[in-house]
Amino acid sequence: MLELHKTLEPMRAAEFRFVPHHIGIMMDGNGRWARQRGLSRLEGHRHGTQNVRRALDACAQFGIRVVTLYVFSTENWGRPRDEVEGFFELLAQVIDYETENFRRQGVRLIHSGSLDGVPPVLAEKVERAVALTHGNDAYLLNVAFNYGGRMEILRAAQNIVADQIPAATVTEELFDRYLYTAGLGDMDLVIRTGGDQRLSNFFPWQSARGVFYSTKTFWPDFDVSELRRALEFYNRCVDVP
Ligand code: IPE
Ligand code: IPE
Ligand code: MG
Repeated sequence: MLELHKTLEPMRAAEFRFVPHHIGIMMDGNGRWARQRGLSRLEGHRHGTQNVRRALDACAQFGIRVVTLYVFSTENWGRPRDEVEGFFELLAQVIDYETENFRRQGVRLIHSGSLDGVPPVLAEKVERAVALTHGNDAYLLNVAFNYGGRMEILRAAQNIVADQIPAATVTEELFDRYLYTAGLGDMDLVIRTGGDQRLSNFFPWQSARGVFYSTKTFWPDFDVSELRRALEFYNRCVDVP
């Protein structure tokens, strides 16, 4: 299915003056990609999930070490049941296939979101992949699965209250530690494929000071040259006197 890569070498890191520390990708357009080819939406998701490996390799080559992927939003439960079930099946396959690669390549998998309502078999696979890669620190891959930004912020507030933290000590730094992304740092660049410019509840706290880049390219076609264009845009945005 996916190609096996043994190393993740930052080869192109020198190409850009500014390399974002943490990028977020809203992987949109699988359905439209499939429709253009007369394929089912699920085929689009299959090609989309296969493209994750290519995109991660591209990020690593440019020296990007923290990547957040929007895999499934809390709003995505509203899709037809067949599509959701088929998509979960694909995710389970990718986790099975990639966990050992991640373990070897020094990729730490982090999950942002809730596993409530997720089929137990898939939830266990996510938890197992997170546990197996816990000691890695070369690359951080944050998977936003059953994730919603407002839900994340509410959860942090609830936990701060539950921990009885005095109001005067609730700083941005403290709040950050209560988010799923604790320790990952701000999102410097958010890429949305598929041409839409909606924010779709994607890490509002973490991306507050970031650069937003939208490309019409559908997710299954997003490759290293697309990432280069996004990084060119990012460099133009941050290189201000
Ligand atoms: C993104 O592609 C994948 C998920 C949200 C799971 P879409 O399925 O949203 O594709 P389009 O936007 O309908 O083309
Ligand atoms: C955003 O895509 C969510 C993911 C990429 C997982 P959607 O297609 O679900 O988002 P909306 O409906 O355009 O907000
Ligand atoms: Mg979409």
